[in-house]
Amino acid sequence: MSDIVTPKAEPSDPINAATGYSSGTAVLDSENSFADPGLPPHSPRKTDTDPHAQARAARSVVAWFVLSGLGAIGAIAAYVSFPIDATDISTVRPGNLFIGLGMAVSLLGIGIGAVHWARQLMFDEEGVDIRHPQRAPQEVRDAAVEVFAEANKESGFGRRTLIRRSLIGAAALAPLPGIVMLRDLAPASTEGSDPAEKFRHTMWTEGTRLTRDPDGTPIKASDVQIGSAVHVIPEGLTEETENWLNEKAKAVVLLVRMEESELTEAEDRASWSYHGIVAYSKICTHVGCPVALVEQHTHHLLCPCHQSTFDVSDGAKVIFGPAKRPLPQLPITVDDEGYLVAQSDFHEPVGPSFPEREL
Ligand code: FES
Repeated sequence: MSDIVTPKAEPSDPINAATGYSSGTAVLDSENSFADPGLPPHSPRKTDTDPHAQARAARSVVAWFVLSGLGAIGAIAAYVSFPIDATDISTVRPGNLFIGLGMAVSLLGIGIGAVHWARQLMFDEEGVDIRHPQRAPQEVRDAAVEVFAEANKESGFGRRTLIRRSLIGAAALAPLPGIVMLRDLAPASTEGSDPAEKFRHTMWTEGTRLTRDPDGTPIKASDVQIGSAVHVIPEGLTEETENWLNEKAKAVVLLVRMEESELTEAEDRASWSYHGIVAYSKICTHVGCPVALVEQHTHHLLCPCHQSTFDVSDGAKVIFGPAKRPLPQLPITVDDEGYLVAQSDFHEPVGPSFPEREL
């Protein structure tokens, strides 16, 4: 049991006269100390004095909690009523909307009800809880040491070094299976046992035409204006493609054209652009949001999620934000008819980093 002391106001106390507060445990122990002003006098709320107001407040707290329960039930009903069809992205939105609304009502109901309860109905007089000394009396400390010494003697933990060391080794190894199993958080591989395989390849191959997203019309290099940006998918990627959403998520590209003189290209990538046209993966290397906001004059490409910014005129290097790698570049050229085509797949996995990426 703690000692709760509610300081009493002393009418003759000079501190009270100045502050209107009770003196509490005010002590002046030196010239530099200041007096504890104590607690302000308690002023009763309407619910403290009026039973009708109290009943009203209780009813409204109950109403908030009931509303919270209904919100939770609504969220479950929405989950059941709006199943997500993996092949139809339009089924995601209504489900998420109503599940989110239900959960929001549920959490808000509990929060508002609890705050209302605390403010209107719970005991609200402040008190002083005198802190006890933290250090246990010496005899209690001695007794604790004795208990440890006795346990050590009885268990033989200190004496049996081999058992002790093997136990420490076993305890150190025990969490490892859980850590190893984290590997399964990556998608299962369809090609061998490497789960990272799925990230290494996209639909882009040598000669695949670049087409507009979403209508799939091929793009002539001569049609791409300087300063323009085009969202691009590989030719042949349609809703009929197996796993088309996954394939699209990996293969989407942003095509940007600028004056050739504005481009800074690494020597080994000098042939990856075509007359100032460059193509970069749209999947942010931070955690995979689609980057799509291009600033025409600076050639900066912004990820809306956490504001990573890439310089498209200089290898899509990161110039700001949490991303750690440039966006992968798709090497491009034109075919006999002047349409833009890929020279190959990306030369590195697209998207965020993952443990096996460098292997
Ligand atoms: S996902 Fe792009 S900055 Fe985080």
